[in-house]
Amino acid sequence: MQISFVAPSNIAAGAWVVGATDGSVLLPAAVRADKASGGALTRALKSSSFTGKAGQMLEVLAPAGLAASRLLLVGLGKPESVDEKGLETLGAQIVARLYAGGETAASLEVELPKGSKVKKPEAAAHLVFGARLRSYAFDKYRTRNLDEYVKKLTTLRVVTSDTTAAKKAFAGLSAVADGIFLARDLVNEPPNILHPEEFARRAKTLLTKLGVKVEILGEAEMKKQGFGALLGVGKGSARESQLVVMQWHGAPKTKKAQPIAFVGKGVCFDSGGLSLKPGGGMMGMKGDMAGAACVTGTMLALAARKAKVNVVGVIGLVENMPSGDATRPDDVLTSLSGQTIEVLNTDAEGRLVLADALTYTQRRFKPKFVIDLATLTGAIVQTLGFEHAGVFSNDDQLVQRIQAAGRYTGERVWQLPLDPFYDKMIRSKIADMKNIGGGNSGAISAAQFLLRFIEKTPWAHLDIAGVAWQDGEQKPTIPSWGTGWGVRLLNRMVKEHYEN
Ligand code: BES
Ligand code: MN
Ligand code: ZN
Repeated sequence: MQISFVAPSNIAAGAWVVGATDGSVLLPAAVRADKASGGALTRALKSSSFTGKAGQMLEVLAPAGLAASRLLLVGLGKPESVDEKGLETLGAQIVARLYAGGETAASLEVELPKGSKVKKPEAAAHLVFGARLRSYAFDKYRTRNLDEYVKKLTTLRVVTSDTTAAKKAFAGLSAVADGIFLARDLVNEPPNILHPEEFARRAKTLLTKLGVKVEILGEAEMKKQGFGALLGVGKGSARESQLVVMQWHGAPKTKKAQPIAFVGKGVCFDSGGLSLKPGGGMMGMKGDMAGAACVTGTMLALAARKAKVNVVGVIGLVENMPSGDATRPDDVLTSLSGQTIEVLNTDAEGRLVLADALTYTQRRFKPKFVIDLATLTGAIVQTLGFEHAGVFSNDDQLVQRIQAAGRYTGERVWQLPLDPFYDKMIRSKIADMKNIGGGNSGAISAAQFLLRFIEKTPWAHLDIAGVAWQDGEQKPTIPSWGTGWGVRLLNRMVKEHYEN
């Protein structure tokens, strides 16, 4: 989809999209469209249930006297409740509607009503951001019936009085959309294609171009350094495990800013290992690298918009497979931190990967804080379902900032407790800890396990198992299985608090 920003002028061919607020109050462009079409909109309104509520639409095809192929009147709701998130949703809904109508081009002239809090250029930018997010598709493996999947809408003109300011506001969001699309692509890719080395290769190619320093540690190097927990997970796989370290230095040179750090679980396929998952539970486990995908997508977004921050992204990439050489339930592994772990269930592998990645990140970079993201437990899905990710933390300010960013972007998080009581659940009979809690509160005992690897660093853990992909109802801005969850949130958090 080609996006351009144009000043108001004669409306070109294609759809002319205009707005109305609650109570069917037509905004100026809608009034013009109505007049130009000899009152087509006011006539249509009389025989429609359209009231201008957010997301409502009224469509007039082939309006008489106009070059436009259709008029699309969209509801913005009450002026005071128009916000960035709502505009994104609206932009996505408009694109969906135009796709359904087979439209090829559109001019968006959706103005802000008086009394809304968003600034004008930002409003245009967020509307287009939503439109762009909706235009995502993962069709590369389809070879037949391609016409069913073709998105005809190829031209989107955004009509705004200040094109320069709108373009500038959109530039940053466009970078974020690129990051989200990368995260979605990685999650959607099948695991026979996207194994650890391929993931690492793609991260390196895409990020190096943008000025990110990317290092890849293979098995030999990790073995030398003592990544016993991470390597224990990849041991049964024919594919080589990888650790990818991405550094973006965007802060002004004068400020010797400590970096912030993001760590991601990258299990490219989770069969459960010797503690094999049943067939039903194994489906979708190509997405078990969504934490790593989010970190990689966020690094891309930050670099593409040249964020003034120093940030490191570290992802542990492995494949969890059974084999004669695989780690067994009852094995004891020595982690990079030196702590020993009794593996009682090889399907609780994500925490083993994160343990070593967290130790490495803290010891090498001494970050201001570290946030890890992982599709860590089925228990978090049972607890919070699909609407919230779980957050666990040793730092209240960090949690508040994550929650605020999530409210803004629509990626909501809910805090769950850490407590010495739960820590007792991972005591081992023979080692420093075991990798399962046993029985209840599985998302919490997993987080307690990670806490054992935190060395006085402010830390938050996001369990994203319920939000990283979607099987049921789709959100307007998320048209694919892989959601790209978290890229917007992390980007927002950086923008609000850590750029200088
Ligand atoms: N990757 C899974 C968690 C998961 C489950 C993510 C469902 C998304 C949807 C994780 O590695 C896992 O298998 N966790 C086990 C832990 C258990 C063995 C202690 C689980 O949740 O069942
Ligand atoms: Mn598992
Ligand atoms: Zn897993």
